[in-house]
Amino acid sequence: MSGDFAPNRTPLEERLVDLIRLKGPITVADYMADALGHPHDGYYMSQTPFGADGDFTTAPEISQIFGELIGLWLLENWRALGSPGDFNLVEFGPGRGVLMEDILRATRLRAAFSKAACLWLLETSGRLRVEQQKRLRASGVKPLWADEFADIPPAPTLIVANEFFDCLPVRQFQRVDRGWRERLVDIGEDGRLAFILGKTPPPANYGLPGDDDSEPGDIFEINFAARDFMTEVVGGLVAHGGAALIIDYGHVASGLGDTLQAVRDHRYWPALSTPGQADLTAHVDFGALADAAVDAGAAVYGPTAQGRFLDRLGIKLRTEMLCKDKPEAEQQKIRAGAARIAAPDKMGEIFKVMCIASPDLPAPPGFFDL
Ligand SMILES: C[S@@+](CC[C@H](N)C(=O)[O-])C[C@H]1O[C@@H](n2cnc3c(N)ncnc32)[C@H](O)[C@@H]1O
Repeated sequence: MSGDFAPNRTPLEERLVDLIRLKGPITVADYMADALGHPHDGYYMSQTPFGADGDFTTAPEISQIFGELIGLWLLENWRALGSPGDFNLVEFGPGRGVLMEDILRATRLRAAFSKAACLWLLETSGRLRVEQQKRLRASGVKPLWADEFADIPPAPTLIVANEFFDCLPVRQFQRVDRGWRERLVDIGEDGRLAFILGKTPPPANYGLPGDDDSEPGDIFEINFAARDFMTEVVGGLVAHGGAALIIDYGHVASGLGDTLQAVRDHRYWPALSTPGQADLTAHVDFGALADAAVDAGAAVYGPTAQGRFLDRLGIKLRTEMLCKDKPEAEQQKIRAGAARIAAPDKMGEIFKVMCIASPDLPAPPGFFDL
């Protein structure tokens, strides 16, 4: 299959083939980390991911209402924190900076919030940092960039992460006749990258499903990177107060299934065929992230469906306000964008929203019907 899609190896495939020849097969997580984040040939370092000319479109790129409502959500939580005069406003994986641009416009309603916010962007891609800088400078703010969460100074912190956790590298395990083996990436007979199974069983403490709860061939995914990152973030939130809003596609409870997915030119693509030139994601296991957050001392709200969350924050009202006095064609565009991010058969159901908060914060809006 890979031959049909990619007659030639990408530069990153060349590097990976050399590496595997030298050191042996690599985990799916190592493959994913390089495919997305290799400093020279990684997808986010070398490609144009977003929009009609790119590979995929995210909610803030579809409708400004997404970021505006999240901005109002942040204002509420800042108030709940006691309106601190200095706090970190953080975005994980800000893409082209569109979401933060909309958030900043909406939060300008409260001058004290804008004045108190120190804006931090956690971003690996140099190309995207340049785009973020251009866009946000035009909004009159000077963001700071972090390579790691630990770079962000201790202070009350409000975080937004849209389609970030699905980029974190996942490990995959496959059920065999008895027990499990790790799925690895090796070199196939045709000289191209191919999946194989490791020879030894994974450690018992990985918590893989028992023989009665799975069948040979089943895949189970564990995102150790996402769990560890969550534990680190919660440490900061619990120590200094704050909340994180996590929005992504994924499942509410851990379960069986292969969700590793590549996308190129807005269509699905074989995961191993053009490393570094296609987006690569895995569904977020919200259940595992919530467990890690609770274990580290946070309160967890949701996950709830994105459509319901946006409804509760007032997407209908905001859509009508935005349509007011606009020409008919523009109104249609605004309504279509709002429907695409909130309708259950579009992004409204598959995308989920979860809040991780310091335990002293009151329940945030968006997670309960009033
Ligand atoms: C799918 S995009 C989401 C963009 C944006 N949040 C939006 O809603 O349009 C993923 C973003 O996360 C960044 N990213 C991916 N892995 C990362 C990592 N390990 N650390 C920091 N940023 C990362 C990418 O460069 C990109 O900005």
